[in-house]
Formats: sequence, C-alpha cells, structure tokens
Amino acid sequence: MSQLLLAIESTCDETAAAVIRNDGEVLSSVVASQIEIHERFGGVVPELAARAHLDRILPVIDEAVREAGISLQDLSAVAVATSPGLVGSLLVGLTAAKTLALTLDIPLIAIDHVAAHIYACQMIASSDVFPAVGLVVSGGHTNLYDCRTALDLSLLGATIDDAAGEAFDKVAQILGLSYPGGPSIQKAAEQGDPKAFSFPRTFLNDDRLAFSFSGLKTAVRYEVEGQPGARRQPPPLTPERTADIAASFQAAVVDVLVAKCIQACKQTGYDRLCIGGGVAANRPFREALQQKCDQQKIQLVIAPMEYCTDNAAMGAIAWEKFQAGDFAALDIDATPGLVRR
Ligand code: KG4
Ligand code: ZN
Repeated sequence: MSQLLLAIESTCDETAAAVIRNDGEVLSSVVASQIEIHERFGGVVPELAARAHLDRILPVIDEAVREAGISLQDLSAVAVATSPGLVGSLLVGLTAAKTLALTLDIPLIAIDHVAAHIYACQMIASSDVFPAVGLVVSGGHTNLYDCRTALDLSLLGATIDDAAGEAFDKVAQILGLSYPGGPSIQKAAEQGDPKAFSFPRTFLNDDRLAFSFSGLKTAVRYEVEGQPGARRQPPPLTPERTADIAASFQAAVVDVLVAKCIQACKQTGYDRLCIGGGVAANRPFREALQQKCDQQKIQLVIAPMEYCTDNAAMGAIAWEKFQAGDFAALDIDATPGLVRR
C-alpha cells in the first residue's frame, strides 16, 4: 500500500520540507535558502538562521504539501533531522514536526542529518549501496563512515579543525568571492592554474583517516595578505591571481579528499563509496574521484546534485526507520553535536 511521509530539515541555514512515498519517490522537495541573510557575514550566523527558520518553516511545509498534491491527513508519519546542527535551527524544525505528529496522531521519526546526506546516494541507486564507505563533506562536516547499513554507521575519521566546506567559505571570503564559497571558488578556479601555488595537503601521506583544512586556509591567507611581519607586500589580487589561488586551493582539497576516500576503502575492504554533502557538488572533486575509483575498481555513488546541499528529500532515510518501527517519543530533544557511534 502506498504511504506518504513529510520530512523536515532545518539543521543549519536551509529550511526544507519534502513529501516522500514509501517506494522512495519524492513527490515534492522545497528548500528555502538563507544565503541572502548570511552572505554579508561570509558564514552562517546561528541566531539569524534560527529566526529565519521560524519565519519560513510553515510556508515551506505548506508548499511541500501543496506541490505533492496531498493534504496533511494523507500522511503516515512526519520525520525531522534532530542532529547534528545548530541548536536554535534544529529546534524550529523539531517543534514543527512534533506539533504535526501530535495533532495528526502519526508517528514522529528522528533523522540523523549526516546519515541522511549519505542516504541521498541510495536514492539514485537501483540496488542496495550498503555496506560502503560513506563521506559526508559539507560546511559542517568532513566525516568518513563505515556504513554497514543505511542506519548503522560508525565514524572512521573526521576533520580535526575546519570542515572542507567551511574552508571553501573562508577562502572565498579572503579572495573577495561571493558566499557560499564552494560554487564561487569552483567558478573562479576554471580560469586558474591548479599548479600555480603549492598549498599544504595535510595528512595526505598519513595512515590516519583524518582531515585538517585550517593550515591550508592560513596558507591562502598569507599568500593574499602577506606573512605577518614580512616586509615584502604580496602582489595585488588581480583576477588572474585570484583564479590561480582558487584553483590551487581547490586542487589541494580535492587531492586530500580523494586520497582519504580511497584509503578508507582499502582499510575497510569495501569496494563501494558513497559521497554526500554540499562539497560533493564540486565538479573537479567528482571528476577526480571518479577517475581514481575507476582505477581502483571501486563503485562510486555520489548524491545527485540537488540532494548534495541541505534538503529534506534525503529524509527518505526515515522510511528505513519506519519499517524498523523506530519511532521517536514526542519529548525527544535536539542534539547539536555529532552522534558518535
Ligand atoms: O551540506 P550543506 O548544504 O550544509 C551543511 O550541512 O553544511 O553544505 C554547504 C557547504 C558550503 O560550505 C558550500 O560552500 C559547500 O557546501 N559547497 C561547495 C559547492 N557547493 C556547495 N563546495 C565546493 N564546491 C561546490 N560546488
Ligand atoms: Zn548538511
């Protein structure tokens, strides 16, 4: 029998809702971005994000339901990302979901946002993608997982400082490029030489499955602003120089991400790799990873473009929980930190 659920996403700066059928078909996926609110700060301001979610959550849910051509009474469950994320942002989505579950008398399902990012890969696959290595690479995370099933994940390694997407955003700010930094750096890099600057590739030749991007960001800053205390002024930031720095920075991030994914596959023995999160939208990363996976005979599944950055459609993972009867109590809390398994 066909059943429908409403998934809600408000972990960071996107207010999103989707209606998803139990066969995985996405009937609607609405995303209200807050880029215009945060761009002048070069990053997400948590308090502003929470307030914007509050303004948008009900219109976004209404639109998702309307676009799907259903009414709220047709829903069999409501799902919401409860972790990880910004606490004020999470609470807005969670409160909306609890209210719907209570008033419609339907089960509430708690979604782990990082597991959902990886699950976006399952949504385009014709067969089971798990077990696999999973990489969530976004503005908040650079995490490698051993994904035994969609819901049974354990962390293999993560960044010790900035997330890769955060590095893209900060470097874009240093270069005077627009926010979010990922797309603007990718665009600027198209005109640049990725070998023009030799930026650090931290942990590249290290056995640990760990990432660090803060040294890379600092190296870019010194290249643009000059070394602290140095007498020599750096050359002016012309469009050519900006493009070269963007391309060289992007190449350093891509090299490390690709190498660690392959290393994680070797370490776990898995020959399947699932990639999700905003940075997975990066074209040079997708291409370099595909090439390396072909060489290593690893099956690569990357989340579809529209489901890389934050969205509620990847809340399709909630059907896995529905089938397992894994429902949340109505007094469940938001958990801002990563739930480590
Ligand atoms: O998954 P997401 O929407 O939000 C988080 O959960 O963090 O990811 C947003 C991040 C931002 O840092 C943005 O700069 C980055 O993903 N991003 C990209 C690209 N598109 C978005 N990074 C590199 N290349 C892209 N094309
Ligand atoms: Zn995300």
